[in-house]
Amino acid sequence: MKEFIAGLPKCELHLHIEGTLEPEMRFDLAKRNNVEQAYSTVEELRATYEFDGLAPFLDVYYEGMNVLRTEPDFYDLATAYLTKAAGQNVRYVEIFFDPQAHTGRGVPFDYVIRGLTRAISDAETNLGIRAQLIMCFLRDYQAEYAMATLLQSLPYRQWIIGIGLDSDERGNPPAKFAAVYARARQEGYRLTMHCDPDQPNSVEHIRQAVQDIGVERIDHGTNVLEDPELAAEIKRRGLGFTTCPISNDRLYGDTKADLIRALLDQGQRVTINSDDPAYFGGYVQENLERVQAELGLTKDEVAQFERNAFEITWLPRAVKDGYLAEVEDYLAGPTG
Ligand code: HPA
Ligand code: ZN
Repeated sequence: MKEFIAGLPKCELHLHIEGTLEPEMRFDLAKRNNVEQAYSTVEELRATYEFDGLAPFLDVYYEGMNVLRTEPDFYDLATAYLTKAAGQNVRYVEIFFDPQAHTGRGVPFDYVIRGLTRAISDAETNLGIRAQLIMCFLRDYQAEYAMATLLQSLPYRQWIIGIGLDSDERGNPPAKFAAVYARARQEGYRLTMHCDPDQPNSVEHIRQAVQDIGVERIDHGTNVLEDPELAAEIKRRGLGFTTCPISNDRLYGDTKADLIRALLDQGQRVTINSDDPAYFGGYVQENLERVQAELGLTKDEVAQFERNAFEITWLPRAVKDGYLAEVEDYLAGPTG
């Protein structure tokens, strides 16, 4: 099964590029940029990656990205991730980035976007993996700040496929960002949003995201199962869920594989993703292996996650169909 998953053409739709900063690279960049680190070895640092919920994780995540300063830093970060992903036969990725977490520290938007897009372009040429960028707003900051960042992104519109919303969800409902999402839609951005597991008002947040904002996907979103009518509406609309089992386990002590199974059984477009692999200790391959093992999934059921993922990408129909055909060809081949 491990070999089957390794060869399966895969797609990742919930991946924070800042969450791919491995401790080794964090130390290299700290040295390059003269940024002092509280720990002196990779082992010591990794030992601090124990999280009791989303907020404690976010503290460590924002602290880590402080070493990212220059255009080459963002290039190196994204190149390392894309190399790792291509090695796992990930064929296409929609990558989240958090511009405010950088511009707020004085790093120009331009460095972030140019470093990331240069890495994406080189990876397509050199590794055959394709990627596009999703700009996330930090929901624990004011909506006006998100709007200003949205306007700041407009000169770079051609390099950003859509917008998302991340960071601390408590007290920061989707409705807070209704105007930002409306403007983003006007500008032609595609729309997704985190609805993290087990937040206060999780179900109401999913409802707002779907009915009031009109998102096309929900990042995480497993609490939807508490509201069968809402789940039915989401299925009717064909929206996708980007779930992250190892992230769930590390933050909430449970992969939520049973909920992922329930979504799959409902025929929802549920997908498996790595979220922040450098912090949670698993890329897409390991996430799929984990869910497969916990649920005893068949090859065809594992492949369904990738059919779902390619289907809900923000790619043109013909390109989606090309990737979907790769999945079916693989299933029809010797390993499938
Ligand atoms: N949820 C919210 N904010 C985040 C996440 C997440 O899964 N990963 C990085 N920032
Ligand atoms: Zn996430």
